[in-house]
Amino acid sequence: MTANVLAIAGSLRAASFNRRLAEVAAAIAPPSLQISVYADLASVPLFNEDLETTGVPTGVERLRRAVERADGLLIATPEYNQSLPGVVKNMVDWLSRGDPVVIEDKPVVVLGATPGAWGTRIAQSQLRHALAACGALVMPAPQFYLRGAADLFDEHDRLIDTRMLDSLHRLLAAYDVWLHRLRLPAIQGRSA
Ligand code: FNR
Repeated sequence: MTANVLAIAGSLRAASFNRRLAEVAAAIAPPSLQISVYADLASVPLFNEDLETTGVPTGVERLRRAVERADGLLIATPEYNQSLPGVVKNMVDWLSRGDPVVIEDKPVVVLGATPGAWGTRIAQSQLRHALAACGALVMPAPQFYLRGAADLFDEHDRLIDTRMLDSLHRLLAAYDVWLHRLRLPAIQGRSA
């Protein structure tokens, strides 16, 4: 049974390591995980409760529909100033609202990349906390931290560090098992 996973990179810049990491994850995922990378996070404006009454922006509706359709999420987050980037927190805040709340009960795997030495540990921890607060099911372990990212991709954006590649394979295999355990009835229902 194939599960559809939406991968979101929490960076808007063209050369984002986190987008590259999400794309590598999509490329090497086991066949039972069909991962597509969301390309439109830039159209999600800053959260403002007033917009909930005057009309939810189309960029937010698009994101919510994509999340609702997905069996699970993969979120690759950068770390800014030893915390969660505003772009990512803003996305979580929008996803925590609406009817239905599309992030609720959604199995999520969190990972992150940085050229720095700490591997986005604090940002990932804060993201897990925020996701749990809005009812998402965050996979607790294993965890994945891509540090020193500037030296780990080749000119075709492939991850060339074999140790990190193995680690990413293990993360995706664990997520595959975990997601199917949580979502099997829904996945079976869709393919019936
Ligand atoms: C950073 N960066 C950074 N890295 C880190 O590991 N810990 C940190 O606290 C910070 N702080 C920080 C603040 C600001 C304002 C910027 C712009 C950057 C570096 C960051 O990891 C780097 O820019 C990544 O490349 C961002 O991720 P993407 O865009 O490559 O996905």
